[in-house]
Amino acid sequence: MTETNAKFLKNAWYAAIWAHDLPNATPVAKTFLNEPVVLFRIDDGTAVALEDKCCHRAAPLSVGECDGDGIRCGYHGLKFDAKGVCVEIPGQTQIPPGATVRAYPIVERWNMVWIWMGDAAKADDSTIPDYFWLKDDGWKAATGYIPMQGNYQLLVDNLLDFTHVTYLHKNTLSADPEEAKVPVKVERGDRSVAVSRWILGHDAPPLFRQGRGL
Ligand code: FES
Repeated sequence: MTETNAKFLKNAWYAAIWAHDLPNATPVAKTFLNEPVVLFRIDDGTAVALEDKCCHRAAPLSVGECDGDGIRCGYHGLKFDAKGVCVEIPGQTQIPPGATVRAYPIVERWNMVWIWMGDAAKADDSTIPDYFWLKDDGWKAATGYIPMQGNYQLLVDNLLDFTHVTYLHKNTLSADPEEAKVPVKVERGDRSVAVSRWILGHDAPPLFRQGRGL
């Protein structure tokens, strides 16, 4: 599948960035579903996501500057607010009504910033997965990124199929070949598929033991 004909699930929340990786006053360029997006925070700390392409001469807004309640293009200085509306054009008083860039629904939750790349009218933040443990004092979370070059569907296939764990990760995520016999539970929701399995009566895998200092 090439980039140009890739099919993406648009009407869904995507984890865009760890909250602590979106600093104040510094725009961050990202690509989601093949679309260039600039992430930044306005003065009150609210996260914003806009199309990373100025409506004037298509310069990436991510190389501009955060400016109070918006972002200023680094080419000719147009300023856009958090809704993607141009609110200032240096040197002129008239702002064309079409001077806008696309704004994406964005929500900060569970120490992550979530973005909705599809129809904004359908963005319901109650459907963001519950990852409370990422921001709960009773849990310790490890954050980071694992860049991969390949079709995302291959990764989904990998993560939904636990049968590989015993063999591919035998020195890290698996402690006992017998684990391969533990059944996997598959749950289908309206918009989701989840797999899980409880492995009881076995030693903890090496990576988990390491995490506990054992
Ligand atoms: S390209 Fe952005 S202001 Fe001209």
